[in-house]
Amino acid sequence: MRILKQEEVDQYLLPYLIITDFDEYARLPIHSYALIRYAIYRICFGIWTQIMSTEAGWLGYFDLTAGPGYSEVIPEELCLEKQVGGSPIIAINTRPPFNFFYFVEKEAGYYLALEKRLKNLLSKEQYRIEKSDTNKVIKDILKIKKGPCLVCVDPFRLSDIEPMALETALKNDDCDLIGVWPPPESQRKITKRFSHEVILPLHENSSRLSALARTIHSKVAQYYGRGVISFYIPQAPYYVMFALKENKIVNRTYDEFKHLGLRNLVRVEKYD
Ligand SMILES: C[S@@+](CC[C@H](N)C(=O)[O-])C[C@H]1O[C@@H](n2cnc3c(N)ncnc32)[C@H](O)[C@@H]1O
Repeated sequence: MRILKQEEVDQYLLPYLIITDFDEYARLPIHSYALIRYAIYRICFGIWTQIMSTEAGWLGYFDLTAGPGYSEVIPEELCLEKQVGGSPIIAINTRPPFNFFYFVEKEAGYYLALEKRLKNLLSKEQYRIEKSDTNKVIKDILKIKKGPCLVCVDPFRLSDIEPMALETALKNDDCDLIGVWPPPESQRKITKRFSHEVILPLHENSSRLSALARTIHSKVAQYYGRGVISFYIPQAPYYVMFALKENKIVNRTYDEFKHLGLRNLVRVEKYD
């Protein structure tokens, strides 16, 4: 793992991050490399809604590991002194917009923080939030959708989100999926910082991680009839998987990442 330099953040990431002053609610402590994942989400969510909105009247966003909404880079890694929007905040700010949001978070402190933030950002009809274990509720949650939806999962460990939960989403023709998969736990130890769990650094050249991710991503493409974009972040202990029914989104995402400055921090592969 490598800590991001301030120049890399300024040069490649700042245009994609949602950065605000600290508020009074809980934040997720993150390593600096998580900023690259947030930039990937910002771009992918936007491509997804742009292409899907031409074909569907209703677009849903389902965040199955929502967290508190905002994150804070561990100060020893980067002196940002601001909070950075995590997946829920990125989704809410996506344009064209999603029509409906569903957030699930199992940890009480994070759930309450997100609940408070959402009250100021969305109207009641636009979203639902619940404090639950996604593995137990995913089947019911997905019944609410009224059209295509993007499902986001960011587990810390394999036992957080069971592969069956992912399969439930992937077996559903309306659901595309984005998130960290395979989960970092298969590679790394988890410890506590500010009373929250964080993942300890791993050497960046993990051939085990690479082989595992390649196998899983190509199998997802093969078994669930998806095009898969596989994002490898050399600084990070994980891959981001973007699994899509619509080939237009696969090709657009792949092409855009070839031209963005962000390509200096991410390697992109495609499976169909
Ligand atoms: C790595 S954080 C990601 C947060 C968020 N997606 C982001 O981008 O900032 C993972 C979050 O998922 C939550 N989580 C883990 N397993 C879960 C489960 N089975 N059901 C609901 N939430 C879960 C954790 O409490 C934690 O807040």
